[in-house]
Amino acid sequence: MQIENIDWGKLGFNYMKTDFSYISYYKDGQWDEGKLIEENTLTISQSAAALHYGQQTFEGLKAYRTKNGDIQLFRPDENAKRMIKSCNRIMMPEFPVERFVDACKKVVKANERFMPPYGSGATMYLRPFLIGVGDNIGVKPAPEYIFCIFCMPVGPYFKGGMTPVNFITSEYDRAAPYGTGAAKVGGNYAGSLYPHELAVKSGFADCIYLDPATHTKIEEVGAANFFGITKDDKFVTPISPSILPSITKYSLLHIAKEYLGMEVEERDCLIDNIDEFKEAGACGTAAVITPIGGISHNGKLHVFHSETEVGPVTKKLYDTLYGIQFGDVDGPE
Ligand code: COI
Repeated sequence: MQIENIDWGKLGFNYMKTDFSYISYYKDGQWDEGKLIEENTLTISQSAAALHYGQQTFEGLKAYRTKNGDIQLFRPDENAKRMIKSCNRIMMPEFPVERFVDACKKVVKANERFMPPYGSGATMYLRPFLIGVGDNIGVKPAPEYIFCIFCMPVGPYFKGGMTPVNFITSEYDRAAPYGTGAAKVGGNYAGSLYPHELAVKSGFADCIYLDPATHTKIEEVGAANFFGITKDDKFVTPISPSILPSITKYSLLHIAKEYLGMEVEERDCLIDNIDEFKEAGACGTAAVITPIGGISHNGKLHVFHSETEVGPVTKKLYDTLYGIQFGDVDGPE
């Protein structure tokens, strides 16, 4: 890949092969020492549990080029811990936090020529994943595992980045009430492909999932979490056992409280009470903050601040988060 051909400002959220990825194998009850490899393919058994029984988890995190040329990762230990929780949920061996963070650093360093420059708006997206492999046909945990990290430079997940998009509530669920919604496992995302397609065909950027038990409360977007700003300036985000706990969402809860002096609440957000919010957004590693212009529910579009302009509180949250991620604003101690 010729770096000179990359227009950093025009990158979307697309795959690009970079030079190196990291791989470690788990066999006979232990992880090997791991290494960097140049291939972007894996050879695994046809009977791998990842292929048949969905025994796999993945993470997403980013590396940022700061003004003085350094490279920093944003809270990689949190991704490592979330991966451990996902592994526990679906009976896979944990990959240790320190090794996860160290492997992320190795991958970024080895692919430094792909690191987007400061000010380009692009970032380096890292995709760690852990899958069950080895020969096995019964529904049981795999005998062997692979942990791998690859990375690529990316632009905004939702087209336009910090411009509002509209969502529509889905009649489908991405997760069961006490299923695997809180684990970052591929099956949750497979289940979201069709509802996403329906939403896009109806002219929306994506769908909003309601709680699977009652379909009365906003849960999340699938590829991002939801937050709303109430008319009296509270930062509110839903809480439920079937929502994927977004690291960006928890960072925003902290930013809203400690940097912007706002009250914050994790609580139910009733779809029928959606006009309690004057602004709303989707947040996640890939989505960063994507302002939500409006949400369509039961054939009616509820517009928050505006379908075209970013609300002032959402803008402040974004500027602070972006500033910390790129090293322009001091992060918490
Ligand atoms: C992320 O934000 O990193 C995600 O994993 C969401 C999506 C791209 C699957």
